[in-house]
Amino acid sequence: MTDTAKLSIAGSDHDYPVMSGTVGPDVVDIRKLYAQTGAFTYDPGFTSTASCQSKLTYIDGDEGVLLHRGYAIGDLAENSTFMEVAYLLLNDELPKKGELEQFETTITRHTMLHEQLAMFYRGFRRDAHPMAIMCGVVGALSAFYHDSTDIHDPTQRMIASHRLIAKMPTIAAMAYKYSVGQPFLYPDNSLSYTGNFLRMTFGVPAEAYEVDPVIEKALDRIFILHADHEQNASTSTVRLAGSSGANPFACIAAGIACLWGPAHGGANEAALNMLHEIGTVDRIPEFIARAKDKNDPFRLMGFGHRVYKNYDPRATVMQKTVREVFAAMKVSDPVFDVALKLEELALSDPYFVEKKLFPNVDFYSGVILSAIGFPTSMFTALFALARTVGWVAQWNEMITDPDQKIGRPRQLYNGPAERTYVPVGQR
Ligand code: ACO
Repeated sequence: MTDTAKLSIAGSDHDYPVMSGTVGPDVVDIRKLYAQTGAFTYDPGFTSTASCQSKLTYIDGDEGVLLHRGYAIGDLAENSTFMEVAYLLLNDELPKKGELEQFETTITRHTMLHEQLAMFYRGFRRDAHPMAIMCGVVGALSAFYHDSTDIHDPTQRMIASHRLIAKMPTIAAMAYKYSVGQPFLYPDNSLSYTGNFLRMTFGVPAEAYEVDPVIEKALDRIFILHADHEQNASTSTVRLAGSSGANPFACIAAGIACLWGPAHGGANEAALNMLHEIGTVDRIPEFIARAKDKNDPFRLMGFGHRVYKNYDPRATVMQKTVREVFAAMKVSDPVFDVALKLEELALSDPYFVEKKLFPNVDFYSGVILSAIGFPTSMFTALFALARTVGWVAQWNEMITDPDQKIGRPRQLYNGPAERTYVPVGQR
């Protein structure tokens, strides 16, 4: 592999260094391109652009590989816990026993919300989407936690990161409680991170809530699967917001807003709605035909990915988890049968094969979350809860990266050239 890329533009030749990572594609360092040539690159959707260097997560989309600090997602989902993965993403290495206990205690001690934040909820309509509430409440955290908004102080950055990870389950559970008209539950710090979230969501003050260990483990695994995913749209949004020096709570609120879209985190909600709409196995061919029809905007939700051109490794774990949860709960859901058959038919259809469209993490997650009892509107909120770990880890990495500058893309301008203003009466 050459270590220089040659570019010829407007009659002159230029060399640009090629940088190599540990694994993965090389990158051409074009930082001097504009200064040297007066030209920009054009890459809408950043399909060929590395926006930063990172040590957190590696994806090989062709092979269906996802690693967090070198550990395979399947290995982590099978053997680790969400708290341990959170520690790993924030701290480079897996924790020793004492380090993990200390981290869990720290997170546990930050689970409560400032009491006045509860009043925010009352300003929302009862039918407000939980993601609308999450955007608002998380953005508002900066008004309550002034002592952790100095981004140049590493201690404050870490406190803000812990606060965000710890408070997100409380915020999401309260959004759910508000929508069903039940009282908010305070966190119970004797429970695990995930057990506490289940209790705050499904418990009521009138009786004791017993956390089902199978569901607790399944949900914890779902959180692991969503913890981080390289420079995806919402993570890039968090980094871009953070690049201006905005406080961490504002940056994460920006990430939540981006995640909400149906092409990103909103796809889990859309995928389950689609499976319900299909309803029975015999209707699948009709929906596959629609997905292939260029004149129909319909897409198979939970299918396809910008990076994975192979089976999303998270979908593999997710499918297995559905089976485990159904077996433990002694339930079945016709929607799962529709999902399995849809996957089988799509993966044998030349359209999906040629375009390398495989199930992504969202294809099966809705089936499990629904079996656990979450309404579809909560799915993306759960995604946001888990992805907060990746967002804060990426945000911390960005702040300490000496190469990082304010994110400021340029454009190819296609509007009118300069012209003279004509007063309204003379137009
Ligand atoms: N169903 C049918 N056709 C599809 C699908 C799909 N789900 N996804 C992509 N295609 C087709 C497109 O029509 C396009 O066809 P063309 O080349 O003939 O025009 C081709 O495959 C490439 O699609 P793009 O939209 O250009 O690919 P891109 O990388 O921009 O989009 C995306 C990726 C947004 C995920 C897309 O596959 C999609 O919309 N999927 C459904 C939504 C979804 O599941 N999102 C979750 C992503 S994972 C996550 O965020 C956690």
